Amino acid sequence: MSIITVATSKGGAGKTTVAQVIAGASCQRGLKVAAIDADYNHSLSDWANTFGTYPIEVHHEVNEANLVPLASDLEDKHDLVVIDTAGAAMQATVFAIGCADLVLVPSQLSSSDVIEAVKTMHLVASASQITKRKIEARIILTDYQPHTNIAEHSEGELRASSVPVMKTKLNRLVGFKEMTFNGEVPLTGVAGQHVVKLMFELEQMGVIPAQKMVRVS
Ligand SMILES: Nc1ncnc2c1ncn2[C@@H]1O[C@H](COP(=O)(O)OP(=O)(O)OP(=O)(O)O)[C@@H](O)[C@H]1O
Ligand SMILES: [Mg+2]
Repeated sequence: MSIITVATSKGGAGKTTVAQVIAGASCQRGLKVAAIDADYNHSLSDWANTFGTYPIEVHHEVNEANLVPLASDLEDKHDLVVIDTAGAAMQATVFAIGCADLVLVPSQLSSSDVIEAVKTMHLVASASQITKRKIEARIILTDYQPHTNIAEHSEGELRASSVPVMKTKLNRLVGFKEMTFNGEVPLTGVAGQHVVKLMFELEQMGVIPAQKMVRVS
Protein backbone atom coordinates (compact mmCIF):
# COMPACT_ATOMS: atom_id res chain seq x y z
CA MET A 1 0.00 0.00 0.00
CA SER A 2 2.69 2.53 1.02
CA ILE A 3 6.42 3.02 1.03
CA ILE A 4 8.06 5.01 3.82
CA THR A 5 11.71 5.85 3.24
CA VAL A 6 13.83 7.01 6.17
CA ALA A 7 16.75 9.13 5.00
CA THR A 8 19.22 11.81 5.94
CA SER A 9 22.80 12.38 4.88
CA LYS A 10 23.79 12.76 8.56
CA GLY A 11 25.12 9.55 10.08
CA GLY A 12 23.73 8.48 13.44
CA ALA A 13 20.65 10.71 13.25
CA GLY A 14 18.13 7.98 14.10
CA LYS A 15 17.22 6.49 10.69
CA THR A 16 17.40 2.86 11.78
CA THR A 17 15.64 3.65 15.07
CA VAL A 18 12.72 5.27 13.22
CA ALA A 19 12.60 2.40 10.70
CA GLN A 20 12.56 -0.21 13.51
CA VAL A 21 9.82 1.64 15.41
CA ILE A 22 7.55 1.97 12.38
CA ALA A 23 8.13 -1.54 11.05
CA GLY A 24 7.75 -3.21 14.46
CA ALA A 25 4.75 -1.15 15.60
CA SER A 26 3.03 -1.79 12.26
CA CYS A 27 3.46 -5.55 12.76
CA GLN A 28 2.07 -5.20 16.28
CA ARG A 29 -1.02 -3.67 14.65
CA GLY A 30 -1.43 -6.68 12.41
CA LEU A 31 -0.17 -5.05 9.23
CA LYS A 32 1.80 -7.03 6.68
CA VAL A 33 5.20 -5.37 6.66
CA ALA A 34 8.30 -5.58 4.49
CA ALA A 35 11.55 -3.69 4.93
CA ILE A 36 14.46 -2.88 2.66
CA ASP A 37 17.79 -2.22 4.29
CA ALA A 38 19.70 -0.06 1.82
CA ASP A 39 22.65 0.53 4.12
CA TYR A 40 25.99 -1.29 3.76
CA ASN A 41 26.02 -1.60 7.58
CA HIS A 42 22.83 -3.72 7.40
CA SER A 43 21.77 -2.68 10.93
CA LEU A 44 18.05 -3.00 10.20
CA SER A 45 18.29 -6.47 8.64
CA ASP A 46 20.56 -7.67 11.47
CA TRP A 47 18.03 -6.39 14.01
CA ALA A 48 15.06 -8.02 12.31
CA ASN A 49 16.84 -11.33 11.64
CA THR A 50 18.60 -11.66 15.01
CA PHE A 51 15.49 -11.30 17.14
CA GLY A 52 12.78 -12.38 14.72
CA THR A 53 10.25 -10.71 17.02
CA TYR A 54 8.14 -9.51 14.11
CA PRO A 55 7.17 -11.22 10.87
CA ILE A 56 8.91 -8.57 8.73
CA GLU A 57 10.08 -9.65 5.28
CA VAL A 58 13.51 -7.98 5.21
CA HIS A 59 15.77 -7.56 2.19
CA HIS A 60 19.27 -6.11 2.23
CA GLU A 61 19.64 -4.27 -1.07
CA VAL A 62 22.18 -1.53 -1.71
CA ASN A 63 22.20 -1.72 -5.51
CA GLU A 64 20.12 1.16 -6.84
CA ALA A 65 19.24 -0.76 -10.01
CA ASN A 66 17.46 -3.43 -7.95
CA LEU A 67 15.94 -1.20 -5.31
CA VAL A 68 12.90 0.26 -7.09
CA PRO A 69 11.71 -3.03 -8.69
CA LEU A 70 12.10 -4.71 -5.28
CA ALA A 71 10.21 -1.94 -3.47
CA SER A 72 7.43 -2.00 -6.02
CA ASP A 73 7.10 -5.79 -5.84
CA LEU A 74 7.03 -5.71 -2.02
CA GLU A 75 4.51 -2.86 -2.01
CA ASP A 76 2.09 -5.00 -4.06
CA LYS A 77 2.23 -7.76 -1.47
CA HIS A 78 2.36 -5.80 1.80
CA ASP A 79 0.50 -3.06 3.67
CA LEU A 80 3.72 -1.19 4.29
CA VAL A 81 7.30 -1.16 3.03
CA VAL A 82 9.87 0.63 5.18
CA ILE A 83 13.21 1.54 3.57
CA ASP A 84 16.20 2.35 5.78
CA THR A 85 19.05 4.15 4.03
CA ALA A 86 22.74 4.83 4.63
CA GLY A 87 24.19 7.85 6.43
CA ALA A 88 26.52 8.63 3.54
CA ALA A 89 25.54 9.80 0.06
CA MET A 90 24.51 6.78 -2.02
CA GLN A 91 22.59 6.54 -5.25
CA ALA A 92 20.33 3.93 -3.65
CA THR A 93 19.09 6.65 -1.26
CA VAL A 94 17.95 8.85 -4.14
CA PHE A 95 16.04 5.92 -5.66
CA ALA A 96 14.53 5.06 -2.26
CA ILE A 97 13.35 8.66 -2.00
CA GLY A 98 12.04 8.60 -5.58
CA CYS A 99 9.70 5.67 -4.95
CA ALA A 100 8.46 6.77 -1.51
CA ASP A 101 4.98 7.88 -0.48
CA LEU A 102 6.55 9.54 2.53
CA VAL A 103 10.16 10.36 3.35
CA LEU A 104 10.95 10.74 7.04
CA VAL A 105 14.11 12.70 7.70
CA PRO A 106 15.40 12.16 11.24
CA SER A 107 17.29 14.90 13.03
CA GLN A 108 18.80 14.89 16.47
CA LEU A 109 19.45 18.14 18.29
CA SER A 110 22.66 19.42 16.73
CA SER A 111 23.64 21.93 14.11
CA SER A 112 25.04 19.29 11.75
CA ASP A 113 21.90 17.14 12.09
CA VAL A 114 19.69 20.10 11.19
CA ILE A 115 21.91 21.16 8.27
CA GLU A 116 21.96 17.65 6.77
CA ALA A 117 18.23 17.18 7.40
CA VAL A 118 17.42 20.38 5.51
CA LYS A 119 19.78 19.32 2.68
CA THR A 120 17.95 15.98 2.50
CA MET A 121 14.60 17.79 2.30
CA HIS A 122 16.00 19.69 -0.70
CA LEU A 123 17.09 16.38 -2.24
CA VAL A 124 13.49 15.15 -1.87
CA ALA A 125 12.26 18.33 -3.59
CA SER A 126 14.64 17.61 -6.51
CA ALA A 127 13.43 14.01 -6.67
CA SER A 128 9.86 15.36 -6.82
CA GLN A 129 10.85 17.47 -9.83
CA ILE A 130 12.53 14.53 -11.57
CA THR A 131 9.56 12.23 -11.01
CA LYS A 132 7.00 15.02 -11.65
CA ARG A 133 5.03 14.09 -8.55
CA LYS A 134 4.93 15.55 -5.06
CA ILE A 135 6.89 13.36 -2.68
CA GLU A 136 5.76 14.06 0.87
CA ALA A 137 8.57 14.54 3.35
CA ARG A 138 8.78 15.49 7.02
CA ILE A 139 11.61 15.97 9.46
CA ILE A 140 11.27 13.84 12.60
CA LEU A 141 13.12 14.93 15.71
CA THR A 142 14.83 12.00 17.42
CA ASP A 143 16.77 11.63 20.66
CA TYR A 144 14.82 14.76 21.56
CA GLN A 145 15.32 16.57 24.85
CA PRO A 146 12.42 18.89 25.59
CA HIS A 147 12.84 22.23 27.36
CA THR A 148 16.50 22.57 26.48
CA ASN A 149 18.25 25.44 24.76
CA ILE A 150 19.51 23.09 22.05
CA ALA A 151 15.93 21.96 21.32
CA GLU A 152 14.77 25.57 21.05
CA HIS A 153 17.72 26.43 18.83
CA SER A 154 17.37 23.40 16.52
CA GLU A 155 13.61 23.88 16.15
CA GLY A 156 14.19 27.59 15.45
CA GLU A 157 16.60 26.66 12.64
CA LEU A 158 14.08 24.23 11.18
CA ARG A 159 11.32 26.88 11.29
CA ALA A 160 13.64 29.36 9.58
CA SER A 161 14.22 26.79 6.81
CA SER A 162 10.43 26.38 6.37
CA VAL A 163 10.63 22.59 6.32
CA PRO A 164 7.65 20.55 7.58
CA VAL A 165 8.26 18.74 10.85
CA MET A 166 6.32 15.82 12.34
CA LYS A 167 4.33 16.73 15.45
CA THR A 168 5.60 13.54 17.07
CA LYS A 169 9.12 13.64 18.42
CA LEU A 170 10.97 10.63 19.73
CA ASN A 171 12.35 11.80 23.06
CA ARG A 172 15.68 10.57 24.39
CA LEU A 173 14.42 7.46 26.16
CA VAL A 174 16.12 4.27 27.20
CA GLY A 175 13.29 2.22 25.65
CA PHE A 176 14.50 3.20 22.18
CA LYS A 177 18.00 1.99 23.02
CA GLU A 178 16.81 -1.22 24.69
CA MET A 179 14.96 -2.02 21.48
CA THR A 180 18.33 -2.64 19.82
CA PHE A 181 19.19 -5.29 22.44
CA ASN A 182 15.84 -7.00 22.96
CA GLY A 183 14.32 -6.61 19.50
CA GLU A 184 11.08 -5.18 20.85
CA VAL A 185 9.53 -1.86 19.98
CA PRO A 186 8.37 -0.23 23.22
CA LEU A 187 4.66 -0.69 23.85
CA THR A 188 4.44 0.70 27.36
CA GLY A 189 5.75 3.63 29.35
CA VAL A 190 6.66 6.99 27.88
CA ALA A 191 8.47 5.43 24.89
CA GLY A 192 5.34 3.39 24.15
CA GLN A 193 3.27 6.60 24.16
CA HIS A 194 5.64 8.17 21.64
CA VAL A 195 5.28 5.11 19.40
CA VAL A 196 1.47 5.26 19.57
CA LYS A 197 1.55 8.98 18.78
CA LEU A 198 3.83 8.45 15.78
CA MET A 199 1.64 5.66 14.41
CA PHE A 200 -1.47 7.83 14.86
CA GLU A 201 0.16 10.70 12.99
CA LEU A 202 1.17 8.39 10.11
CA GLU A 203 -2.38 7.04 10.06
CA GLN A 204 -3.77 10.60 9.87
CA MET A 205 -1.42 11.29 6.95
CA GLY A 206 -2.84 8.23 5.17
CA VAL A 207 0.45 6.36 4.87
CA ILE A 208 -0.57 3.50 7.11
CA PRO A 209 -4.07 2.02 7.27
CA ALA A 210 -6.24 3.00 10.22
CA GLN A 211 -6.12 0.54 13.09
CA LYS A 212 -8.99 -1.88 12.83
CA MET A 213 -11.42 -1.84 15.75
CA VAL A 214 -11.71 -5.23 17.39
CA ARG A 215 -15.33 -6.03 18.25
CA VAL A 216 -15.87 -7.77 21.54
CA SER A 217 -19.12 -9.71 21.56
N1 LIG B 1 14.75 8.61 20.73
C1 LIG B 1 15.92 8.07 21.05
N2 LIG B 1 16.22 7.80 22.35
C2 LIG B 1 17.42 7.28 22.69
N3 LIG B 1 18.39 6.98 21.81
C3 LIG B 1 18.14 7.22 20.51
C4 LIG B 1 16.91 7.76 20.06
N4 LIG B 1 16.95 7.88 18.69
C5 LIG B 1 18.15 7.42 18.32
N5 LIG B 1 18.87 7.03 19.39
C6 LIG B 1 20.23 6.47 19.42
O1 LIG B 1 21.05 7.22 18.53
C7 LIG B 1 22.02 6.37 17.94
C8 LIG B 1 21.95 6.50 16.42
O2 LIG B 1 20.68 6.00 16.00
P1 LIG B 1 20.51 5.14 14.65
O3 LIG B 1 21.45 4.00 14.63
O4 LIG B 1 19.07 4.87 14.56
O5 LIG B 1 20.97 6.24 13.60
P2 LIG B 1 21.21 6.03 12.02
O6 LIG B 1 20.83 7.34 11.40
O7 LIG B 1 20.52 4.82 11.56
O8 LIG B 1 22.78 5.81 11.96
P3 LIG B 1 23.63 5.39 10.64
O9 LIG B 1 23.76 6.64 9.82
O10 LIG B 1 24.94 4.93 11.23
O11 LIG B 1 22.87 4.31 9.94
C9 LIG B 1 21.71 4.96 18.43
O12 LIG B 1 22.56 4.66 19.53
C10 LIG B 1 20.27 5.05 18.90
O13 LIG B 1 19.97 4.11 19.93
MG1 LIG C 1 21.28 3.19 10.43
